[in-house]
Amino acid sequence: MPNPRVFVTRHLPGDALDLLAEQTDVTVWPHELPPPRDELEREAARSDGVLTLLTDRIDDDILKKSPRLLVVSNMATGFDNIDLEAASRHNVLVTRTLGVLSATTAEFTIALIFAAARRIVEGDRVVRSGEWKTWGPEVLLGRDLSGATLGIIGMGGIGREVTHRALALGMRVVYFSRRSKPALERRYRMEFLGLDELCRESDFISLHAPLTTETRHVVNSRTLAIMKPTSILVNTARGALVDQGALYQALSEGRIGGAALDVTDPEPIAPNDPLFSLPNVIVTPHIASASVATRSRMARLAVQNLLEALAGRLPKHAVNREIARAWRQRVRKRGVAIRSKMMERPA
Ligand code: DGY
Repeated sequence: MPNPRVFVTRHLPGDALDLLAEQTDVTVWPHELPPPRDELEREAARSDGVLTLLTDRIDDDILKKSPRLLVVSNMATGFDNIDLEAASRHNVLVTRTLGVLSATTAEFTIALIFAAARRIVEGDRVVRSGEWKTWGPEVLLGRDLSGATLGIIGMGGIGREVTHRALALGMRVVYFSRRSKPALERRYRMEFLGLDELCRESDFISLHAPLTTETRHVVNSRTLAIMKPTSILVNTARGALVDQGALYQALSEGRIGGAALDVTDPEPIAPNDPLFSLPNVIVTPHIASASVATRSRMARLAVQNLLEALAGRLPKHAVNREIARAWRQRVRKRGVAIRSKMMERPA
């Protein structure tokens, strides 16, 4: 039986690709930019599995043209780049790299909160441009984190890690999520609020929700209008959680205090976007999970998910688990030859 054929849409950090090459016939897209649509379509059509990144759109059309495809392993915790409903309809398993990036993303979130609150990027700009004249009692005054209220929208693994760190900094934490989490509330001394109440009460608002039809533009002209004029918005989740036009309006009219965005809509954001005309905006290039160790862990877990799926085992991080039975039948019928050597679970 031939090895299963796998397509990986970019070179990956660490030893993940070596592990994959030991057990599959793997093709890696060698360029810095994502494979264009026609290439992705061509490769997916002849593969048993694809390992995708959040920049690769897997939609119904691609899935329809890929009758061999058994699994899409996404190297991300988010999976809004994949049409999940279509994948389930075609009995294609979708997996993600849940958990391994939560601490790293939370650290970056806190870094952005600090950077915006204490005007670190602005300060660097002032010094570099020669605008800094002298130490002054009113130069670049920022806001303290200690004693401030942090409102977290979306209380999954990353939201929890942010909470933990924020409490250590003396912040009060309130949150809004699809469901309240009483056990977490007891453990972390935090409070569940309605969305509007959270917007009204928070000094900092940090987004950690997945992008879905319900959460798209959760930050919009209405919610921005009820935020404090000093509040700072931080987004390390997905750009489309924020209506960026409304955000620009609110910032330029001084209706909120600032924004720190690791994610934008679209990505990359145009260099002439009006947001860049505002000094109280920080934008970074979707790097919240980008530490050496975490990106290697993500790559390993994505490979592990892919190999487990090709061996006919349901990976722990399968998203559309409800198709397990029909999917297993497809794997069995196809008889893909994975030796399924168990890899050690990434920490
Ligand atoms: C994810 O995993 O969804 C992140 O956005 C990648 O950093």
